[in-house]
Amino acid sequence: MKLTHDLIERNQALLIVLVIAVVAVGGLVEIVPLSFQKSVTEPVAGLKPYTPLQLTGRDIYIREGCYNCHSQMVRPFRAEVERYGPYSVAGEFVYDRPFQWGSKRTGPDLHRVGGRYSDEWHRLHLLNPRDLVPESNMPAYPWLAKARANAEDIEAKMKALKTLGVPYTDAEIAGARKELDGKTEMDALIAYLQGLGTAVKRGK
Ligand code: HEC
Repeated sequence: MKLTHDLIERNQALLIVLVIAVVAVGGLVEIVPLSFQKSVTEPVAGLKPYTPLQLTGRDIYIREGCYNCHSQMVRPFRAEVERYGPYSVAGEFVYDRPFQWGSKRTGPDLHRVGGRYSDEWHRLHLLNPRDLVPESNMPAYPWLAKARANAEDIEAKMKALKTLGVPYTDAEIAGARKELDGKTEMDALIAYLQGLGTAVKRGK
């Protein structure tokens, strides 16, 4: 029996099997090479691993569900680049596990928010967004200013990230608890926000 077009189109089971085979091979051809592409797997120049304070802030960002309203990926469209700054590239996220890219934008994209406002702006904004942006529907997070940054598992977290390839030195891990001394969750979250997207220089 010859595998003719006619035969394949008349035989549903055969068509399904062949479609799956073609899609699987096509998928592999598209996806596998990415794992070997330096522009995707290597950090962009100037990208630094999160400091212990920023790393703690990142966990608070995730715990508080900020990603439910904020993406962290500027797409390569003119409207986005003009609003937020340079579009995001894969090499900026190699130390992010997991990524906070997201697709829900109730609020603005935050990938290039680092350095856009002062620490004090962020503090007031997180205490009550409506004090700065009257029409804002972002929730207030006043408890962050009172809660102490959790230093207990920072060393374990950094060690785990090190095994995944984040270049922390032993000295950095040993000094991590000290960096969190006397800091609040608010300090940590702001340190994280201020570092976002700063490895790539803003134009203009
Ligand atoms: C219910 C949706 C919602 C959640 C949850 C939320 N935000 Fe927002 N956020 C907004 C909206 C809407 C704005 C725009 C108005 C404003 O600036 O308050 C905004 C603005 C911001 C801005 C200013 C961005 C800019 O470029 O002007 C920052 C920074 C920010 N949010 C951080 C956070 C952080 C950190 C969290 C978690 C602790 C968070 N947001 C949680 C909706 C949200």
